[in-house]
Amino acid sequence: MNPPRVNADRLLRSMAAMSAIGATSKGGVHRLTLSDADREARNLLVAWLRETGLRVRIDTFGNIFGRLEGSDATAPIVLTGSHLDTQPFGGRFDGAYGVLAALEAVRCLAERPAYPRRSVEVVAWTNEEGSRFQPTLLGSGVYTGHLDATAMYGATDVSGCTFRDELARIGFLGEAPCRADPIHRYFELHIEQGPVLDREGIPIGIVTGLVGLEWFEATFRGQANHSGTTPMEGRRNALLGAAEVITAVDRIPSQLDAEYAVATVGHLRVEPNSINIVPGVVHLTLDVRATDTDNLRSAAVLAARAVQDAARRHHLGVDYRKVASSEPQVFDAGCIALVERAVEALDVPFRRMVSGAAHDANNLNRICPTSMIFVPSVGGISHNEAEYTSDKDLTLGAEVLLGVITLAAEEEAGR
Ligand code: HGY
Ligand code: MN
Ligand code: MN
Repeated sequence: MNPPRVNADRLLRSMAAMSAIGATSKGGVHRLTLSDADREARNLLVAWLRETGLRVRIDTFGNIFGRLEGSDATAPIVLTGSHLDTQPFGGRFDGAYGVLAALEAVRCLAERPAYPRRSVEVVAWTNEEGSRFQPTLLGSGVYTGHLDATAMYGATDVSGCTFRDELARIGFLGEAPCRADPIHRYFELHIEQGPVLDREGIPIGIVTGLVGLEWFEATFRGQANHSGTTPMEGRRNALLGAAEVITAVDRIPSQLDAEYAVATVGHLRVEPNSINIVPGVVHLTLDVRATDTDNLRSAAVLAARAVQDAARRHHLGVDYRKVASSEPQVFDAGCIALVERAVEALDVPFRRMVSGAAHDANNLNRICPTSMIFVPSVGGISHNEAEYTSDKDLTLGAEVLLGVITLAAEEEAGR
């Protein structure tokens, strides 16, 4: 059987048009969730979904769905997609590629003479990144029942705007209930965001699972004071406490016996942040991840201990709270096997792998058979304006997605 082919030019044109929304001068994208740029990206996607003849719905958390009706409208659907929001200065492929390749796959299905047995739905999840509103994976978290809708509506950004107000402001506070339909399988295509595929020269990653993650926020409270007149003895320098946490967190993975673990302090806010004032208050974030639950728990314990020890040593007050949590995920063997069939039909090299990044698939994997497909990130660079994946790899990834969606949509009930 000839493997299904996508319309590569159309996919790449869609990628270019979407990348222009929030484009930065260095080739990246600044498209924070629920920003004006996010609204523009969402409107463009909705226009494309409608142009393709799909039934479009927006739910109460702004998740966008475009459905191609199958011949058996009662059968659980095949769902595929990712997210349009980006990091503050992120890459143009993270998230958007998975949404637009899903759109391209459904465009191809819609051009066929016969509709698929099962309905196929494209989705763009709200606030995957969690860099403006925490937690990460918010829209898919409410959709799958993992996160509480009321609490999430009240999430605020650094300027005090609430999630719900911003969703309404950009016109995407939809009416459809934010709740999962019966889903046969969920597939998410994404750039790897790490170095493995590029280093090994392999174009396709068949993702077998995801790391677990825990995110924390710490606030150290010392005493702001004149940097010239305040003796070193007796200072309560909040930034010194933070500095000790930053290096202690960096050491955590080496203290674990883990197949894969990472730990990062990625955000730091110093107050008053002036050259001649001893820092009085410092906010910082902690991100710990591991491929198994025991090591994830150990990493969280070591992180908390580092924060408390630093506060005690520097006589600081400290507030510490968890802001996001997702346990390690193992993907569905049936989904993985279908992806492997689609890759073999294209006769290209592939490897199985675990994802070091979190994805909306974390949440979907709790409620339906789920797996992911990766394409290479050149140099393993991501969450960085220099993020890059070649047109050839983008096209191949989309063809694997079209292949696996086609297989899944034709599966008998009960498979
Ligand atoms: O943080 C993550 O792993 C995802 O890229 N948002
Ligand atoms: Mn992503
Ligand atoms: Mn990301």
